[in-house]
Amino acid sequence: MEIETATLDKLKIVDERTGKSYDLPIENGTIRGTDLKKIKSSAEDPGLMVYDPAYMNTAACRSAITFIDGDKGILQYRGYPIEELAESCTFLEVAYLLLHGELPGEAENEEWTRQITYHTMLHESIKKFMDGFAYDAHPMGILVATVGALSTFYPDARNIHDEASRRTQIYRLVAKMPTLAAFAYRHSRGLPYAYPDNDLTYTQNFLNMLFKMTEVKYRPEPALARALDVLFILHADHEQNCSTSVMRAIGSSHADPFSAVAGACAALYGPLHGGANEAVLKMLAEIGTKDRVPAFIKEVKEGHGEKRLMGFGHRIYKNYDPRAKIIKRIADDVFAVTGKNPLLEIALELEKIALEDEYFVKRKLYPNVDFYSGIIYQAMGLPTSMFTVLFAIARTMGWMVQWEEMLLDPEQKIARPRQVYTGPGERHLAPLAKR
Ligand code: ACO
Repeated sequence: MEIETATLDKLKIVDERTGKSYDLPIENGTIRGTDLKKIKSSAEDPGLMVYDPAYMNTAACRSAITFIDGDKGILQYRGYPIEELAESCTFLEVAYLLLHGELPGEAENEEWTRQITYHTMLHESIKKFMDGFAYDAHPMGILVATVGALSTFYPDARNIHDEASRRTQIYRLVAKMPTLAAFAYRHSRGLPYAYPDNDLTYTQNFLNMLFKMTEVKYRPEPALARALDVLFILHADHEQNCSTSVMRAIGSSHADPFSAVAGACAALYGPLHGGANEAVLKMLAEIGTKDRVPAFIKEVKEGHGEKRLMGFGHRIYKNYDPRAKIIKRIADDVFAVTGKNPLLEIALELEKIALEDEYFVKRKLYPNVDFYSGIIYQAMGLPTSMFTVLFAIARTMGWMVQWEEMLLDPEQKIARPRQVYTGPGERHLAPLAKR
């Protein structure tokens, strides 16, 4: 098979097996995978397929939500640079932007905030469900189970083709994820659950549900609530990553969105994805002191991929992750309130050495969003097991918007990749006694 010429709008392929040539249209820098099916070596041949493990070079959808240029380190939501959004907006404004495509005006923002605020309560039975987990259950495991269980409380969520019902499920999920997360944390600490407080903002209320003790009214530290807002903005969406692809795949079978979010949370849980922020803290604690950084870097280099510098490298960014830059800046605001996290010194030294080292430079390995986020969460008093849970709260907005975009896209169908079969040819079984 020979690919002869690629013009602006078509690709000419000559199949050397048959001598036939084919013109495949090029649109938005892609050819359609199904166009390859017409390339056959014989009448019985099912046609050419693309072999692309881990979808390294396959666009599975069109999307108008998030734009990333990994080489230049650019991230935009609906066209707005992430830096501008993080500087000037609240998380809920950005959530509205992701959903509607435009930033809210004052009246729209008020109504959107009211809807989210009034959907934060959980059915009391969820508390009983939560009580069933062991005291040391990982909060991510609790989150996966309880958000999936919510689908049984809202059977109307199955009306996925009804726009009003979809909107209600979006309010419910964005509003209830912080409550589920906070309850999971309180359960692990043996503390009574703290109910939502409607006088507070989204992130202030989350801090209230996490940290309220005996005081009548919890007064969140404004700098910490703002830092959390920024961290949530940075994590809100990231186009077709592992967990979002799972959300779309589950949603494509027309399952309800609570079940699909449970699946997306499970994908996020892994240490190569949302679980990396937890792994960064373990790594920094293992290094222990700044003077041991060079030895650790040496071990990573000699490990040739066996041992990784967690929080470094990204499938898409081959430049400094723009989110990591913003997080590094807000760390100072947090530390001014909480006092410096001693692990910061080790992280800064790691970054400095890695960015100058040929091994990392050659492979274009830069700090990603998870490198500094955990240090901030830890300074706020959160245990490492909660880090991925915080990521899941913010990413729920992205999952919901991507899910709805998939449902409304007339080109989408149930997700069903193909395979290259490598097992035995047809054979016939022998009776049990003769095997
Ligand atoms: N430390 C050391 N070496 C690394 C690292 C790292 N963190 N990441 C990649 N490499 C090396 C690999 O060993 C490989 O080297 P080689 O060419 O000599 O074999 C090369 O860089 C390319 O690595 P791949 O694994 O092919 O890159 P891929 O794009 O598949 O992986 C990933 C991306 C999974 C994020 C990887 O960089 C990694 O494991 N990083 C650490 C975990 C992490 O921080 N994950 C969070 C990602 S952000 C998020 O999900 C929110």
